[in-house]
Amino acid sequence: MRILVTGGAGFIGSHLIDRLMMEGNEVICLDNFYTGRKHNVLKWIGHPYFELIRHDVTEPIRLEVDQIYHLACPASPVHYQYNPVKTIKTNVIGTLNMLGLAKRIKARFLLASTSEVYGDPEVHPQAEEYWGNVNPIGIRSCYDEGKRVAETLTFDYHRQNDVDIRVVRIFNTYGPRMLENDGRVVSNFIVQALKGVPLTVYGNGAQTRSFCYVSDLVDGFIRLMNSNHTGPINLGNPEEYTILELAQTIQRMVNPDVDIRFEPLPQDDPRRRRPDITKAQKLLDWQPTVPVSEGLRLTIEDFRSRLGVPGTISNTDRVGSV
Ligand SMILES: NC(=O)c1ccc[n+]([C@@H]2O[C@H](COP(=O)([O-])OP(=O)(O)OC[C@H]3O[C@@H](n4cnc5c(N)ncnc54)[C@H](O)[C@@H]3O)[C@@H](O)[C@H]2O)c1
Repeated sequence: MRILVTGGAGFIGSHLIDRLMMEGNEVICLDNFYTGRKHNVLKWIGHPYFELIRHDVTEPIRLEVDQIYHLACPASPVHYQYNPVKTIKTNVIGTLNMLGLAKRIKARFLLASTSEVYGDPEVHPQAEEYWGNVNPIGIRSCYDEGKRVAETLTFDYHRQNDVDIRVVRIFNTYGPRMLENDGRVVSNFIVQALKGVPLTVYGNGAQTRSFCYVSDLVDGFIRLMNSNHTGPINLGNPEEYTILELAQTIQRMVNPDVDIRFEPLPQDDPRRRRPDITKAQKLLDWQPTVPVSEGLRLTIEDFRSRLGVPGTISNTDRVGSV
């Protein structure tokens, strides 16, 4: 199959491309390299089935493909808040352009949406039927309201123009190739531990988060794309961990001598968010398989080599409490 991946040079997109290429598909990676890196897809450059296009999705493009995975959009607050107007343009005009393309060429279209559409949820865990609790005028709105409009556009193209659509709501995902400066808790702790500076825990660390390893997420994407269900479908790991547990595990795995430092909880720190993945389990026969201890080991190794910090993780460290 010929497949377009927008945002393909980013963290999740590049792992998706690895899977699609290994399965023998022809892949077009489209990216403006805002947070993506050519390095992430370097191993495919020159492959006869691979094409890399520098392009911004806010501009229309003509291509011939069978499937479109639409991921182009900065994902972490530091990056999506840097230029919020651009973020909303990417979500709205970018999605409109890609849906227009899907309509013209009759390609199946998958939107990478987010658990942020649930906002600061009043129900827990979040099932797909929950409509969310989102602030339309806050500093996160360019992203979460942007993705909500992207979902609306996707369903309207489906109802009005018969576009064959899929919508995934992604919960926190981690793994190799995350950016080291994106301010997310997993990458923050790993980078701090590798640099030998104290791990910063906000509040008392009792707040919980859940983390899905990237290969599990990619597997869910491919299952949904090739299923008969439009979604929206939650993909994420429902196991919750406290931030302090995560810090202690990374401390143990990377550098037991590094301190953990407690700092005041920022005001906008989201409360708990955890996916209800019943639909994905039933409809796609999908659930996360990579234990956090193993996912962390692979992520730490990747950061270690990118930061040029020597060392290894001992076997006993691999079976951390998380
Ligand atoms: N990582 C997560 O935990 C998570 C959670 C929820 C949703 N998502 C969604 O998954 C998708 C991928 O996220 P990621 O974590 O890989 O982030 P990422 O920032 O690594 O990847 C996004 C990619 O999109 C590209 N991009 C951004 N704006 C673009 C534009 N206007 N035109 C073309 N390319 C553009 C970037 O250069 C980058 O390569 C995003 O849509 C994000 O909203 C991710």
